[in-house]
Amino acid sequence: MNPNLSRLQPYPFERMAKLHAGVTPPERLGAIRLSIGEPKHPTPGFISEALIEHLHGLSLYPATRGSLQLRETIANWLGTRFALPADSLDPDRQILPVNGTREALFAIAQCLIDPANQPLILMPNPFYQIYEGAALLAGAEPGFINCTAASDYLPDFDAVSDSDWDRCQLLYVCSPGNPTGRVLDSEALQVLIERAERHDFVIVSDECYSEIYLDEAAPPPGLLQAAAAMGNEDYKRCMVFHSLSKRSNAPGLRSGFVAGDAELIEPFFLYRTYHGSAMPPPTQDASIRAWQDEAHVVENRRLYRDKFAAVTDILSPVLDLETPPASFYLWPRTPIDDQVFARQLLAKQNVIVLPGSYLSRDTENGNPGKDHIRMALVAPLDECIDAAQRIRTFTEQLDVQENT
Ligand SMILES: Cc1ncc(COP(=O)(O)O)c(C=O)c1O
Repeated sequence: MNPNLSRLQPYPFERMAKLHAGVTPPERLGAIRLSIGEPKHPTPGFISEALIEHLHGLSLYPATRGSLQLRETIANWLGTRFALPADSLDPDRQILPVNGTREALFAIAQCLIDPANQPLILMPNPFYQIYEGAALLAGAEPGFINCTAASDYLPDFDAVSDSDWDRCQLLYVCSPGNPTGRVLDSEALQVLIERAERHDFVIVSDECYSEIYLDEAAPPPGLLQAAAAMGNEDYKRCMVFHSLSKRSNAPGLRSGFVAGDAELIEPFFLYRTYHGSAMPPPTQDASIRAWQDEAHVVENRRLYRDKFAAVTDILSPVLDLETPPASFYLWPRTPIDDQVFARQLLAKQNVIVLPGSYLSRDTENGNPGKDHIRMALVAPLDECIDAAQRIRTFTEQLDVQENT
């Protein structure tokens, strides 16, 4: 057995199931689940139809690189969305389709990490759990960069020592962030690119929430955009990971891509050939249609904007929370321990939220997820409003003294 398997932590939803054991929520209230970051808006019909239309593609083995039409469509989308210099992305050498970003974010560490020399993989804390599992199974040590209120819930990169940057082979960044919804600006991304050059590591930028933002006039910048703006038009040391799951409400399609530095994409292509993770042909065709359309993405953002406005209106008088610029998460502070808060909220109001400490790890400077909860505003507007009202009632009735 691979000994690194025993280093994997229980997934947050397993821990949550244990936390809920023995709780009987009130029967008169239906359950509202804000715990899972699974988009619930309907998948646009034209994407499902494109999938059906191309089912004949099932008779073919797909190529690991995917079709040229898909890669060209992605190159056009990236070029327009992030205002990249014309022709700076070669669809043959700098883009690969992936079956959702989850598998790719995991696989990239297996591909790039040299297990000699005590490799370190740095990541935000709290974080998307795959980063840590990927690091452990690649034989690297995960290193956590805290995101606290003091750093506006962005990773405090300046707190990382030079010796850790030297050991770092791969840095995961997540912007917009899960669970904090905060966005790294271009300047911050450029400082990271300079660091990557100085300390010789790769930046893996998880941008799967890049299209879920609140201000139509302020789309979050991406790593490739920041690189091009500083003259790094080969995107050296930079890889971005994008997905249709959140952008197009198609998490079951399992479709995303990785793009960036040709010298990193090429070994990843080789790795994927052996790993056997080519995208099915009908999925490729449906993905082409999805990346070509923006109208459904604009409408998707409107739905989230309405939910953020309604929910923060109800909750801000009772909880310490800020509306983030992007993502579909709220990350409020809890007046009592986050696990106790989540368990009692289920017991009293049948609303399910994720304790923040399940998404983060202890560090010498504390656990930045503690006393926070993650609320995913994925349910329809009326359900989100109902949940917010129940959380408000619960919080107002909470006896802080009794629970500390
Ligand atoms: C931060 C982050 N990255 C990546 C993913 C994976 O998404 P997918 O594999 O559907 O592209 C998720 C899913 O919830 C996520 O929250």
